[in-house]
Amino acid sequence: MSTPAPLVQLVDIPQRGDARGQLSVAELGGALPFPVRRVYWIHWTNPGVSRGFHAHKKLHQLCVCVAGSVRLSLFDGKSEESVVLDSSAKGLLIGPGIWREMHDFSPDCVLMVFADAEYDEADYIRDREVFTRYVTG
Ligand code: TYD
Repeated sequence: MSTPAPLVQLVDIPQRGDARGQLSVAELGGALPFPVRRVYWIHWTNPGVSRGFHAHKKLHQLCVCVAGSVRLSLFDGKSEESVVLDSSAKGLLIGPGIWREMHDFSPDCVLMVFADAEYDEADYIRDREVFTRYVTG
C-alpha cells in the first residue's frame, strides 16, 4: 500500500545570495514541479484579514512568502494542518483537492503564488461543506 502524500509539502528554494544580498530561484525541474502559466502575489493585506477559503479541482500552486510571514491552514477533507511561511527559501506546494486558508499576515507580507494554469473560476470550490463532500465522495 502506498503512503498518502503529506498535507504540508515544503520544497527548498535554492538560495544564490552573496555579499550583495539575497537571490532566490524557482525554476522548472528545481523548486517548481510544473510549468508556470500564472503568477500572482498578495500584499498590503489589511490587519486582521484572512483570505483563501477555497480549494481547486485541478490547479497546482507553489506559494512562497518572499517577505514577512503568513500562516496557511490546509485541509484535505480529513486532516487539517497549519504551516507558517516566513522565508523565501521555502515554498509550499498545494495541489488539487486541498482547502486552504491564509491567516496572520504580517503587515509586510508578500506572498507570491506560482500556478500551472490561468485563472478559472470554474476550478474553484468556495464552500467548505461542498468541498468536504467533493473529496470524501
Ligand atoms: P480571491 O479568490 O478572493 O482571493 P483569495 O483566494 O486570496 O481570497 O480573489 C480576489 C479577486 O481576484 C477575485 O475577484 C478573483 C480575482 N483573481 C483574478 O482575477 N486572477 C487571479 O489569478 C486570482 C488569484 C484572483
